[in-house]
Amino acid sequence: MHLQFLLAFASQALSLNFALPHPIGPSLVGTTSIELLDTSRLDPFAPDVRYQDYTATLTNLASQGYIVVGVDHPFDTGFIEYPDNRTAIAVNSTTGTPEGAARTVDVHVADLRAVLDALATNATFAKQIPGVHGTLDVSSVGVFGHSLGGATGASAMAADERFACGINLDGTFWGSVVGTGVDRPFFLMSSAVHNQSNDDSWKWFVGNSTGMKLEVAVEGSLHGAYTDFAVLYDEIIAAGYDVPGAAELLGTIRGARMLEIVGEFAGAWFDRCLQGKREVVLEGPSEEWPEVKFWDS
Ligand SMILES: *[C@@H]1O[C@H](CO)[C@@H](O)[C@H](O)[C@H]1NC(C)=O
Ligand SMILES: *[C@@H]1O[C@H](CO)[C@@H](O)[C@H](O)[C@H]1NC(C)=O
Ligand SMILES: *[C@@H]1O[C@H](CO)[C@@H](O)[C@H](O)[C@H]1NC(C)=O
Ligand SMILES: *[C@@H]1O[C@H](CO)[C@@H](O)[C@H](O)[C@H]1NC(C)=O
Ligand SMILES: *[C@@H]1O[C@H](CO)[C@@H](O)[C@H](O)[C@H]1NC(C)=O
Repeated sequence: MHLQFLLAFASQALSLNFALPHPIGPSLVGTTSIELLDTSRLDPFAPDVRYQDYTATLTNLASQGYIVVGVDHPFDTGFIEYPDNRTAIAVNSTTGTPEGAARTVDVHVADLRAVLDALATNATFAKQIPGVHGTLDVSSVGVFGHSLGGATGASAMAADERFACGINLDGTFWGSVVGTGVDRPFFLMSSAVHNQSNDDSWKWFVGNSTGMKLEVAVEGSLHGAYTDFAVLYDEIIAAGYDVPGAAELLGTIRGARMLEIVGEFAGAWFDRCLQGKREVVLEGPSEEWPEVKFWDS
C-alpha cells in the first residue's frame, strides 16, 4: 500500500489509542521479535518489528494453539524495527515486473527456509519464542501469507517438503510454481473481485496442483481487507473520522468481521491439513459465514 496512505492510517490510529480486537481462540498469546541472520546469503535488497501489517491474523492463529512465526524481509518489507531498535526501510522494490516478482518470491522462500532451519537446529534462537523450550520439529508446518506472501507460500511448498500445506490470501502466483502447482493441500482465499476467472495464475496453479484444494472469495472485501488496516479502519470510522481512498482498498466488509472470517477459515484449514481434523466450515456455504463464497471447480 502507498506510504502516504499508511501514514494517514497511522496518524489517525495513534490519535485513537488503538487496540486490536481480542483473538478468537482460547489459548493465551505471547509475542516476541527475534533477529535472524543467515550468513550463507547476501541480502540482494540491502544497500546495507515493529508493527506488522498482519498482527491481528497471526494472533488469531496463535490463539488457536499454533506457534506462529511472522517473517519480515529486511529492505523489502516497507519498514522493520529490530529488537535493538535498529530499523530497515525498503530500498528498492523489484516486484514491478513478473520477473522481478518471481525473483523476490525466491528470496522470500530462502528466508522462510532459513527460519525453519534455525528453529530446527538453534535452541538459543527457538527458545526466544514464548512457551518454546528448545528446538522445534519443523518437519510438517503450514505456510500462509497475503499477496506476495501467499505466492511465497506456494513456492515454498514447491521448494521444500517441510511446508506441508498452505494458504494464499489474495495473491497472484509468480514463477515456476504456476506451471508445477503443488502436490500437498492448498487453500486460496480471495477478495470479492479476484478468482480463477480473472487471474490466470490462479487458474493454472489450481489446474496444475494435485493435492487437496479449496478456493473461496469473501463478499464485500477488497485486497487490503486481509491486513490490519481493515480493523484499524473500523475504529477510525467509529470515531467519526475517515481516510480518503480507504474504501477503494478495503471494500465494504467490516474489518473485525473480516478478521473473524480469515481466522476461522485459516485455522480450520490448518487443523484439517496438519492435524487431520474434520472441519465442517470448509465443506460449503453456511449461515454462520454467508460472506464466504465457494468456488466450484
Ligand atoms: C537494490 O539497490 C542496490 C543499490 O541501492 C543495488 O545494488 C541492488 O542490486 C538492488 N537490488 C535489486 C534486487 O535490485
Ligand atoms: C528501544 O527503544 C525503546 C523505546 O524508545 C527503549 O525503551 C529501549 O530501551 C530501546 N532498546 C534498546 C535495546 O536500545
Ligand atoms: C543461534 O541463535 C542465536 C540467537 O538468535 C544467535 O545469536 C546465534 O548466532 C545462532 N547460531 C547460529 C549457529 O546461527
Ligand atoms: C499448467 O500451467 C501452464 C502454465 O505454466 C498452463 O498453460 C496450463 O494450462 C496449466 N495446466 C492446467 C491443467 O491448468
Ligand atoms: C470472480 O471474479 C469476477 C471478477 O471480479 C466476479 O465478477 C465474479 O463474481 C467472481 N466469481 C466468484 C464465484 O466469486
